[in-house]
Amino acid sequence: MERFRVEGGHRLAGEVRVHCAKNAVLPILAGAILADDPTTLLDCPDIADVNNMVRILQTLGCKVSAQGAALRVDASSIQSDTMPEGLSKRLRSSVFMMGALLGRLRRAVVPYPGGCEIGQRPIDLHLAGLTALGVDIREEGGLVVCDGARMRGGEVHLDYPSVGATENVMMAAARIPGRTVIYNAAREPEIADLQRFLNACGARIAGAGSATIEIEGVRRMHGATYRPMPDRIEAGTLLAAAAATGGEVELTDAPVEELGAVIAKLREMGCRIETGAGRVTFVAPQRLDSPGQVITLPYPGFPTDMQAQMLALTCCARGTSIITETVFENRFTHVGDLRRMGANIVVKDRTAIVRGVRSLHGARVYARDLRGGAALLIAGLAARGETVVEGAEIVDRGYERLEQMLSGLGAQIRRERQTDE
Ligand code: UD1
Repeated sequence: MERFRVEGGHRLAGEVRVHCAKNAVLPILAGAILADDPTTLLDCPDIADVNNMVRILQTLGCKVSAQGAALRVDASSIQSDTMPEGLSKRLRSSVFMMGALLGRLRRAVVPYPGGCEIGQRPIDLHLAGLTALGVDIREEGGLVVCDGARMRGGEVHLDYPSVGATENVMMAAARIPGRTVIYNAAREPEIADLQRFLNACGARIAGAGSATIEIEGVRRMHGATYRPMPDRIEAGTLLAAAAATGGEVELTDAPVEELGAVIAKLREMGCRIETGAGRVTFVAPQRLDSPGQVITLPYPGFPTDMQAQMLALTCCARGTSIITETVFENRFTHVGDLRRMGANIVVKDRTAIVRGVRSLHGARVYARDLRGGAALLIAGLAARGETVVEGAEIVDRGYERLEQMLSGLGAQIRRERQTDE
């Protein structure tokens, strides 16, 4: 077990390059099994979730090799349609394998998925979407057994624009006979990125990024070399870290357009932000203003994956901030730790009311989920004194050595082994 030790009060400054997006790479790795020839993904982030996904692919019989940051996936040797239980439970995104396995092998056996404990995260929408494509689904001893022998294109109406369900249906439909239309699809940019990748492999998909996606099934898909889009959540986290310290940073390789909702809120908080092609130039004020109200929503609304980091920022902002989480029902687990650092936060149902204090103080706190862990680091950068964030592994699930990115900008942060005290 590892932890981060942060000495607060150091202003962040400098330039930092944004990695490729975890939430783009994970479904694309699943989609790679649809191709008959090898695919190469460039610049894959070295994070635990990606490494676990690679191990899942290998368990199924795919050959995966790394050359620097590029991953080459050869699915021609895929043998198994049954997902390994232990690994699948560690990774919520293993659920994407359901659509990809069905597309490739017409059969998938998956355990109920794991991932961050941020709400119930059921998979009913995934199952309803696949059923609409003619998949026969049974539950047997905690496993979901999907039989796609009679799969064909169809109309899928999602009750809610679930990111994972949209991606799963896209992958299941890519190689089956007929035309599929997904209505009320999620519009997250990572879905458009998956479309670009699958089309580069010969799929015929249009409309991703809008609420209606059309998929014309193809007989076979070939390999491709592809660079996934940059990570808008990592980019937003770095801006929030700079904002917490009154800093001044420049992001390169940044997903500028996709950061729109986050940039708009940071501007309301008094930050000066200029954007160019793949560049964000950011200057924070001495003290942030409250953003008023922040409501998480499906894209293009404010992302739930930035809620915790934004909440950490509002702790010291001038005035009262109201933060409402509408996407996941249990995503305020970082609040107790922020309070230990001196924050004034009241949570009522899905809304947190934050009264800005002049400063936070260091404390020993616990990363309980990925983005909550990042939020505690941000709070630690702003706080007086030393903060210890236990559970570095949880942050490593989605950020590639975040402490190195931050220390490159002047943060005083180090990783250390957790010893029993
Ligand atoms: C993806 C992202 C995650 C992000 C989330 C919302 C990846 C790997 N993960 O997760 O980082 O926080 O989108 O932007 O891309 N739901 C159901 N039934 C279902 C599916 C979802 O009720 O079958 C609910 C979930 O419990 C949640 C909401 O729908 O409350 C949104 O979930 P969804 O959009 O599916 O998120 P994920 O794909 O799991």
